Amino acid sequence: MPVRRILVTHALPYANGALHLGHMVESVQTDIWVRFQRLRGNDCLFVCAEDCHGTPIMIRAQQDGITPEQLIATSAADHQRDYAGFAIGFDHFHSTHSEENRHYSYELYHALARRGAIARRTIEQAYDEQAGMFLPDRFVRGTCPRCGTPDQYGDSCESCGATYSPADLKDAVSTLTGTKPVLRSSEHLFFQLGQFEQDLREWLANNNLQPAVRAKLDEWFEAGLKDWDISRDAPYFGFEIPDAPGKYFYVWFDAPIGYIGSFAALAAKRGLDFDAYWKAGATTELHHFIGKDISYFHTLFWPAVLHGAGYRRPTGVHVHGFLTVDGQKMSKSRGTFITAQRYLELLPADPLRYYFAAKLGNGLDDIDLNLGDFTARVNSDVVGKLVNIASRCAPFIERAGGELADALPDPALYQQFTAAADGIAALFENRDYAGAIREIMQLADRANQYVDQQKPWVLAKDPAKLDEARSVATEAINLFRVLMTWLAPVLPGIAAKAEGWLGAGTLSHWDGTGEPLLGIAIGKYPQLATRLDPVVVKQLVATPPAPAAAPSAAAKVAAKPAQDKPVEKSVIGIDDFAKLDLRAAKVLAAARVEGSDKLLQLTLDLGAEQRNVFSGIAASYAPEQLVGRFVVMIANLAPRKMRFGVSEGMVLCASGPKEGGEGVFLLDVDAGVQPGMKIS
Ligand code: 2FM
Ligand code: ZN
Repeated sequence: MPVRRILVTHALPYANGALHLGHMVESVQTDIWVRFQRLRGNDCLFVCAEDCHGTPIMIRAQQDGITPEQLIATSAADHQRDYAGFAIGFDHFHSTHSEENRHYSYELYHALARRGAIARRTIEQAYDEQAGMFLPDRFVRGTCPRCGTPDQYGDSCESCGATYSPADLKDAVSTLTGTKPVLRSSEHLFFQLGQFEQDLREWLANNNLQPAVRAKLDEWFEAGLKDWDISRDAPYFGFEIPDAPGKYFYVWFDAPIGYIGSFAALAAKRGLDFDAYWKAGATTELHHFIGKDISYFHTLFWPAVLHGAGYRRPTGVHVHGFLTVDGQKMSKSRGTFITAQRYLELLPADPLRYYFAAKLGNGLDDIDLNLGDFTARVNSDVVGKLVNIASRCAPFIERAGGELADALPDPALYQQFTAAADGIAALFENRDYAGAIREIMQLADRANQYVDQQKPWVLAKDPAKLDEARSVATEAINLFRVLMTWLAPVLPGIAAKAEGWLGAGTLSHWDGTGEPLLGIAIGKYPQLATRLDPVVVKQLVATPPAPAAAPSAAAKVAAKPAQDKPVEKSVIGIDDFAKLDLRAAKVLAAARVEGSDKLLQLTLDLGAEQRNVFSGIAASYAPEQLVGRFVVMIANLAPRKMRFGVSEGMVLCASGPKEGGEGVFLLDVDAGVQPGMKIS
């Protein structure tokens, strides 16, 4: 296959707000696609920039007492820090307030004006006399003319969905000064979108847009393409229009041109052929990833502007839905507005990248971050299935001197895995990551089954079968390598560690898995991933505690519990009880713990995964009495670091009198249960 030359972008972040997990859905979706293309051997570039212009940014800088340039600099630094934290691999990050962007904004504008695509008309708009400026629709609020709901924006009503202009609002006020706006007229410049209807229809016919996007476009065509106002009056933070002093390009005119500006800066750095990426007739691919709220700009204005100016049009515009948290729109008051920075303070990027990927199809459906599901899914799939293959087989290679066996004991199984590569590649290519993850995890189950059946830990007990154990481990590690290669675009952090273990370059080519790794020395197994702790995950939505007033000395004395009073038992509600994830678990192995006469170390089977649990039952049970028994365990207890290792849960016991003293009794589960069954 010839190498494809691809340029990819996602929406440029505004310079006046922190990135939140909604932004990260798009960044992760795009970055996975870019990394996938690179893994396939394609030449894929990914550029981004700070989106700097417009009234909100100008006003925000004024309110903060800084220049817009200072606001942009801080914001760009914060954004780049967060993108890097999520391993978003841009080739270049630029700014729309740059010389490159000014150059291309002028160039495209002049080209459009030359071909008669720009018209001038005088229009009336809301004007704040006290602030001395025209007001964007969002800076006017008032009562909805249709349903009478007070305090609505100047362009639409959140209550009844009506759309209108600020002049239609009843009791309109400027949000800047609280004064009543007046109507004032001024000349504006319009891009005549209607001129491009035929070109747009032809572009759409040759473009593989998602059905829902196509349907929306049909609606817009049906309603008739309207001229687009691309100018704003001073004061405005942006580029002054060359032949219209005192007028500035509307932020949405120069923002997508920021894709070009950012690429131009990269091209200068790397000596790339600009025209091959941007001029009409370009044979490279151009893909934009965006949210559904900005598809009008990207599927109508943008291709028309490009075409009108003699530029190429996008190969693909890929639209995704919004992010909800626990089923609801992210909200600051509910504490579900999770910034990228807050997430990264608590957790690594890979788990969330995995979770988003597992939920992202190629449609426009919203995706929900359900915190319980997030924890369970990552722990079960990434730790319990994927990493489990490697972690439980690595010791048998280490014992054999760190070298993989020379041959696979089951080459047919290996082939069964690699035969799935094309299908999985097609799913990634088509941005059906959820489909790809489903297939990969089914194969991870298959790899774990293989290990369960071959039982290398049993083989390794017999010195004569150490080699056999190593062969089984070699097979399993190769299966892991295939899966990890496919997942490398999703889990770059874990992939990097795994590559450090298996050897440089072992996971960096999609087709590299055609040949298994045999007879080579591999490194010492590193911990590839740890389980998500539900207590930490919950902190993502914890509202920061209100600063407590320092208690007075008297209050401190009064608050001290009286030593002689019985401790009150707190009563919990059903909701608290429901937080306990009680599961039936089967004891796979039990052993005494050196240095403790109370503890037994249990390996518990929860169906989808295994857990290591230290339980204080050594005085009541010998290890051999437990193997094969079912116990009740709390499966969502935060892992606890003990002197002997990490305990990943707790086994429930009753305690009470028995002959000769106190004893503990495991709660036994009725026959018929299966590992992992929920207990309620
Ligand atoms: O909606 C937004 O957040 C815009 N800043 C996206 C701009 S994308 C591109 F056109 F620049
Ligand atoms: Zn209304």
